[in-house]
Amino acid sequence: MTLEQAKQVAAYRAVDEFVTNNCIFGVGSGSTVVYAVQRLAERVDVENLKVTCVPTSFQAKQLIHKYNLTLGELDTHPNIDVTIDGADEVDSKMNLIKGGGGCLLQEKIIASCSKKLIVIADYTKDSVTLGDHYKKGIPVEVIPMAYVPIKNKITTLFGGDVKLRNAIAKAGPVVTDNGNFILDWLFPNNSFDWEEVNTIIKLIPGVVETGLFINMCHKAYFGQPEGTVSER
Ligand code: 5RP
Repeated sequence: MTLEQAKQVAAYRAVDEFVTNNCIFGVGSGSTVVYAVQRLAERVDVENLKVTCVPTSFQAKQLIHKYNLTLGELDTHPNIDVTIDGADEVDSKMNLIKGGGGCLLQEKIIASCSKKLIVIADYTKDSVTLGDHYKKGIPVEVIPMAYVPIKNKITTLFGGDVKLRNAIAKAGPVVTDNGNFILDWLFPNNSFDWEEVNTIIKLIPGVVETGLFINMCHKAYFGQPEGTVSER
């Protein structure tokens, strides 16, 4: 089984278990979520479900349109029943690193408005501690004019290295859906108290949000190499 198939089985399981008729559904971002939206569209079609989809990114919104699903927004649907989203890494305490695709701010806002955040991922994202497998660091969304002082403050406070995320095949930094930059903090070891780290980084002026999702995830599904799905 390929990694893509592992993502698909996890996504299908989550949609089948958590999406119900008349629910308000938060649509996460990334490649695994594409399978969740495909499955949702099948179910809406076959079961005639009524589901309102609130996107976490421009990508998620495009997916909702592509599959002719009903689009909602926080203004009209501030209470979301369940959000299904991907993750870059999940530790044994259900702490997450998110933002590999740069959508962490809206993902965290939507997660914070959801009764349940369900993570879907392939088996490579399942870790004991953050950093076991994922080596790209913790994303931090920042106001562009402040990226250098924020970078310096994070390394002074915690060590490691901080890189401005650059766009692939294009000169210049990645610009998020919210017009901000992304810093990736390559943390020096995995013995941090992540809740404390998250609080401290968020207090630095110019930081908009971090990709650390602490105490937010209700359940995670990991597609396995042999085609099964493990859950936590
Ligand atoms: C985007 C995210 C994604 O959910 C995360 O990067 C996982 O993506 P994928 O499903 O492609 O592995 O946080 O900001």
